Amino acid sequence: MSEREWMREEAARSLERLLPRVRAVLTEARATDPTGYAGFEARLQREWPRLFTLLLQLYGWQYDFFYHLEQLLLAAAAAWAARRPALRTLDAAREVNPDWFQDQSMVGAVLYVDLFAGSLAGLRAKLPYLKDLGITYLHLMPLFLSPAGNSDGGYAVSSYRTLNPAIGTMAELADLADTLREAGISLALDFVFNHTSNEHAWVARARAGEVEYERFYLLYPDRSIPDQYDRTLREIFPTVRRGSFTWDEGLARWVWTTFNSFQWDLNYANPAVFRAMGEELLFLANQGVEVLRLDAVAFIWKRPGTDCENQPEAHWIIQAYNALTRIVCPALLFKSEAIVHPEEVAKYISPQEAQLSYNPLFMALCWEALATREVRLLARSLALHQPIPAGCAWVNYLRVHDDIGWTFDDGDAQALGIDPWGHRRFLNAFYIGEHPASFARGVPFQANPTTGDARVSGTLASLAGLEQALNEGNPIFIDLAVRRILLLFSVLLSAGGIPLLYIGDELATLNDYTYVQDPIRAHDSRWVHRVAFDWARAEQRDVMARPEGYIYQEILRLIMLRKSQRAFVGNDLQVFDTGSPGMLGYVRQFRGERVLVIANFSEAKQQLSANQLRLHGLGYQFRDLNAGIELRAETTLTLTAYQFLWLEAI
Ligand code: GLC
Repeated sequence: MSEREWMREEAARSLERLLPRVRAVLTEARATDPTGYAGFEARLQREWPRLFTLLLQLYGWQYDFFYHLEQLLLAAAAAWAARRPALRTLDAAREVNPDWFQDQSMVGAVLYVDLFAGSLAGLRAKLPYLKDLGITYLHLMPLFLSPAGNSDGGYAVSSYRTLNPAIGTMAELADLADTLREAGISLALDFVFNHTSNEHAWVARARAGEVEYERFYLLYPDRSIPDQYDRTLREIFPTVRRGSFTWDEGLARWVWTTFNSFQWDLNYANPAVFRAMGEELLFLANQGVEVLRLDAVAFIWKRPGTDCENQPEAHWIIQAYNALTRIVCPALLFKSEAIVHPEEVAKYISPQEAQLSYNPLFMALCWEALATREVRLLARSLALHQPIPAGCAWVNYLRVHDDIGWTFDDGDAQALGIDPWGHRRFLNAFYIGEHPASFARGVPFQANPTTGDARVSGTLASLAGLEQALNEGNPIFIDLAVRRILLLFSVLLSAGGIPLLYIGDELATLNDYTYVQDPIRAHDSRWVHRVAFDWARAEQRDVMARPEGYIYQEILRLIMLRKSQRAFVGNDLQVFDTGSPGMLGYVRQFRGERVLVIANFSEAKQQLSANQLRLHGLGYQFRDLNAGIELRAETTLTLTAYQFLWLEAI
């Protein structure tokens, strides 16, 4: 018997043993919703072998493996029983139409509730703003209970079941999820599962000497093991603290803290941690969350001698959680937040792991192309790294709450004769405005004095040149900055997957430098682009004479255009060589519908021969959807500064 066959048999045997217990605890739920229960049990039968095998690989050698397995299954059963009818209906609908999120009508937004509208009640009142923008996916930045003062923007969670009281209550959030769903908007929340804050109840219990909870974290009595790990770990926040460990007085031990010292990494080698976090995950799903953003996913498994990123076990853990959600709440999707090498980013994406993923490569290289006025690295990288499995989608973005890191593949750069190290230095200098030819007003983030590595903070509009142009009051530069911003959005909205807007960018929000006056935030330049939403500015959004009004209206028009084009369904993206160094070209197609996008990333004129268009299925006659005009290509097509076309054959 092969190992695989043996595992299958073991899985079947274990389920046979456990099923009577599941049925017993679900007696009531089975009586009230027999059809729903039948679906649950069918999914359990279907997914169990996968879940069992993954857990056996991860934890099978531990003496209490079967105890944890049973507890996990009972927790899953209880979570299914607690699932509201509306969510069970959604589960059924999504099972029939698993590709719902591939639709061209999908447009995402991400915002901080407090910065946007003060509280959940405020957000509810401001929903018309988001509906006007055609938003169908709304990611609310972490709103859980977290330490007062610095909480890494909420990414230090003290309880996954309680919200920050200033923002609202869990019951309000569940209500909001219902309202959003009825309006065709899917709620996305963070699952900050690599670490908890040092104020989480588990930390308190560990500090109180409960060994069971000490084992939830990675604690060391002296520096010997931390020193060994530090030799191979990447420092994520080197300006906060050197190395990845923090001394805790209460425990009198070193604690693994990949990010800030108050963010304690969880010990996923302990099956009790997998189970406890699995229960938090299912709890959130039952509030009506449709997408969980798996925060800092690359870091969850540690292995001596490595950088402790992207370990195979990290994938197994997510796959196991994926199997758990298929059983209990199949409407839920995962979005991977892996800001790592492109090949590693791709490994998290599959229907059995994370169905959605941020696309950091696309983001970084759009900025790279704007700085260099050359699209070759962008085009090459898109061609090589964009294809993803069926049933999955990229979440494309230009800016989010985090910094920009230059995560392109060194080999791709070298193949084009670009020195990757020098190029990253150039990009940092360019975007922090130190390069003489720069239009950008960014701020450095986490410059590492040892490695020379650095990242960049700043809002989209400030990085694209609007801040500098407005300061100089130069109308030509303002015009160029506006064009740059719209060019970026034209690519974002046509490149495939789910485009994600960082709310405020649609109004060309500029950097806010007041964070430096706040001692809690001064050391973290990401606050320069975490700006309180300016409602007075938003009210003026139909004033086309103002740059932000014009930008808003143009973005809105492009969003609506996107929604009307079936060619934009899914992720199929065929990059082609336009023959002009500054001009990106790609074909988007879906079931015979096809749109050709060409985008000039420079202020110089770029040309495309008519032959190129014919090669990609456009005849001599076509329509530019963007300008709404018909064109006839005889010999060449000329694009002016930062111009873009969305072409369809007629
Ligand atoms: C993710 C978040 C970032 C946070 C980190 C630690 O990368 O996007 O804001 O600092 O995780 O939770």
